[in-house]
Amino acid sequence: MKRKLICAIILFFLISSCEENKPTYVIGVSQCSDDEWRDKMNDELILEAMFHDGVKVEILSAIDNNEKQIKDIQYFIEKKIDLLIVSPNESAPVTPIVEKAFDAGIPVIVTDRKVLSNKFTAYIGPDNYDIGKLAGEYVVKQLEGKGNVVEIMGTSGSTPAIERHQGFMTIVKKYPDISIVYQEDAVFLKSLGKKKMEEALVQEDTIDLVFAHNDRMAAGAYLAAKEANRENDMFFVGIDAIPHFGIDQVIDGTLDVTFLNPTGGDKIIQLAMDILKGNRYSLETALPTNIVDKRNARVLKLQSDYLDQQKGKIKYLSKQIDGYFVRFTNQRIMLYSSLILLLLVIILFFLTLKSNKSIKYLNARLSKQNAETVSQKRQLERQRDRLVVLSKQLEEATHAKLMFFTNISHDFLTPLTLVIEPIKQLLDIDSLDRKQRALLKIIEKNVNLLIRLVRQILDFRKHEDGRLELILSKNSLSKCLSEWNESFLPTLLKNNIKFNFNVIPQPDDYQIALDYEKIQRVYFNLLSNALKFTYENGRIDVSLSTLIANGRRYAVLKLSDTGIGVSVEHIQNIFNEFYKVNEHFAGSGIGLALARSFVDLHGGSIEVCSSPNGGTTFTVKLPYADFGPEKAIVEDINPINKYSTSVDLEHYEKEINQEPEHYTGPALDNKKELVLVIDDNPNMQEFLSLLLEEQYNLIYAMDGKEGINKAIKYIPDIILCDVMMPVMNGFDCCHWLKSEILTCHIPIMVLTVNSYDEQRIEGYRSGADAYISKPFNSQVLITQIQNLIKSRKQLKELFSDKSTSKNGDITALDIGFMEKVTAIIDQNISDSNFNIELLGKMIGLSRVQLYRKIKSLTNYSPNEIIRIYRLKKAKTYLASSELTISEIAYKVGFSSPSYFTKCYKNYFKENPTFFLKRIENGK
Ligand code: FRU
Repeated sequence: MKRKLICAIILFFLISSCEENKPTYVIGVSQCSDDEWRDKMNDELILEAMFHDGVKVEILSAIDNNEKQIKDIQYFIEKKIDLLIVSPNESAPVTPIVEKAFDAGIPVIVTDRKVLSNKFTAYIGPDNYDIGKLAGEYVVKQLEGKGNVVEIMGTSGSTPAIERHQGFMTIVKKYPDISIVYQEDAVFLKSLGKKKMEEALVQEDTIDLVFAHNDRMAAGAYLAAKEANRENDMFFVGIDAIPHFGIDQVIDGTLDVTFLNPTGGDKIIQLAMDILKGNRYSLETALPTNIVDKRNARVLKLQSDYLDQQKGKIKYLSKQIDGYFVRFTNQRIMLYSSLILLLLVIILFFLTLKSNKSIKYLNARLSKQNAETVSQKRQLERQRDRLVVLSKQLEEATHAKLMFFTNISHDFLTPLTLVIEPIKQLLDIDSLDRKQRALLKIIEKNVNLLIRLVRQILDFRKHEDGRLELILSKNSLSKCLSEWNESFLPTLLKNNIKFNFNVIPQPDDYQIALDYEKIQRVYFNLLSNALKFTYENGRIDVSLSTLIANGRRYAVLKLSDTGIGVSVEHIQNIFNEFYKVNEHFAGSGIGLALARSFVDLHGGSIEVCSSPNGGTTFTVKLPYADFGPEKAIVEDINPINKYSTSVDLEHYEKEINQEPEHYTGPALDNKKELVLVIDDNPNMQEFLSLLLEEQYNLIYAMDGKEGINKAIKYIPDIILCDVMMPVMNGFDCCHWLKSEILTCHIPIMVLTVNSYDEQRIEGYRSGADAYISKPFNSQVLITQIQNLIKSRKQLKELFSDKSTSKNGDITALDIGFMEKVTAIIDQNISDSNFNIELLGKMIGLSRVQLYRKIKSLTNYSPNEIIRIYRLKKAKTYLASSELTISEIAYKVGFSSPSYFTKCYKNYFKENPTFFLKRIENGK
């Protein structure tokens, strides 16, 4: 803002200091010719212009050329001059361009010679007709009415030549003794005047007088006569009478008389200024003429000389003034510049003052902030000290906790070992029935899992304390992997995951010194993770190869899956302790941390590469070399020998099909209710299967999404749903099912390990009907399931009786659904072709879905519902209308009255005719 103001001030001063140099008016002068007479006029124009402020005169001469004059005037038009003064060479050719200038809005003064148009602003010049007349009068007087006359005329197309001739002839023609013996155009030029006179002299023996339209042509004629020695035989008459030319010719006797043709430059500029300033002016100004002869020529010359002197002085003065003006302008610029400088100094002074003030203020603020920072720093230091103390305390507490976990894990190990042994012995008993064996297997599997988990905790503790040790033995890594793969085959098959195990053959068959158990745990961890995160129909690739890097040889184990993948944000933390990518997945978050630790101990490396939905690849590199005696205890035993080395998926497929781990297809027993179990843990599925299979039909889903699909497909009588699951958790699944018309009526029981109240609230909010915490009492679970199914049955009964159907426990969606169903039946009641298909179409469900939904809500099939509705409607008609039984049968959509009577009797346990009689008798 300030900068703008300063610029504006400087600009103002500069503009105002230069203002005087710019002309206010530009006057263009287009002269037809270039001679003494024109020079005089031009001098007068310039001199007079000096007396008017801001007037600039620009003069162009056409040198007697029409084309050149047209161009000159065009130039003035384009320049947008303020006023044009024109003396046209020849009237006809120059008139159009003069009109153009006038039409362009430029005021035009025509001078000396005229145009053939009235498109001009004013005319100023001599009265050429009058000059011609005066010349005629003089000729008559001088020749006393008798003699031979030669007339040398001006440019034939110019008005002076025409008018001078006309004026002259008006007088002369009155005297018949005066003969014009020769008459020619000499274009106002001396040379041509001489030439024409030579012709006249040859032509005429007696010439008494030569009348030339200007002094120049008269001088030419005199010269010709003198050369012919006949100059004294005749009089010479001219026009113009300008000093140093015509006047001098009269004085020296070469001219007898001349007539004043006033140039009038001063008058022309005065007229122009009147026009430009809007003053009154004359449209036509005739400049006065006079005869100049021997009597007044000398006086006139003196006067003219005196005038020339005065003009010289004026010019000198004007030059002086110009000089003063330039000096004045320079001084003014200097003054303005100084003023600007002064102003800038003042502004700078104030700015400095102001900035000093703000610097002081800022300094004060800074020191205040400094003080605050110092106090904050002190506070932070105090907090840091406190944090150090706290973290120490925390470290101690963590240590204590870890100690506790270690100790308790140790304590767990003994009883667990004591449990596993008796189980093994129990499993050896041949007389066990299938269920008993299966239950024992579950116990065995889960105790083994517990032992593994406890060991993991103990290893973790060792890893924390840096006490992990390797027990190395030479093993073929490829054989180890083949062996370990077998444990995963059932799950791979069950989930329909393609498994590809590819070993690049090596002569040594990957004989590496490794800690068998630790590398097994690494592999199990990686493969279980891959399984956990890979969808059904996905793919897992395991490859084994070698690599030489930095002079060392490595076995490279690559494990890729087509699973959900991990984002960059998680991938960098994936090997950190207790890090969990997704809270919905079970697990302690120490598996991968331990895996890395185990691989590190081997001098190897583990890397991961993953992208969301792009699968994950783990690469483990294990060196071939030994690890030094101080770290490793190399055992000679080779535990691998007892394992088979090949993977046979087909073999497992058969095995699994023979004895499925859980129910895989809906071979349903119609008398039993259908239970859908949504849980990603196969052990839990197996356990629930053993618990419930006798009493219920069971179907299973591995996650929320699959659960929704199966619920829609089978419309189960109850759903048991875990919370922590991949893809979609239990709460979201429950919420979805409860908001869908097809499934909203199905009771859902949520199973979870979380027993916090908030979790319970979340469970109920999602629409769950019951909530049971793991570990649960089997009997409680069974009773809860029975209760939920029973209460649903009661609801069904309520539904079958319309009057009580609006029970508070039934979902609004279900009420809406049933109302829609009955409305559609009512609208189509008389149509005997109306059936379940049409009803399904109108309601937007498939035949099977409609069947399951209506059956689960009302205990009746849709066909039964339609029939019952028809019968109930028929009963109201019987009771309230005059219609016959046959008419009513057709009206409610029965195609035959006898079939109607049969159905009616079946449902109401009474013949319709009896009912009618009862009504008549008032019973
Ligand atoms: C005619 C005239 C002559 C003069 C000449 C100057 O227009 O004024 O009288 O000699 O033009 O160019």
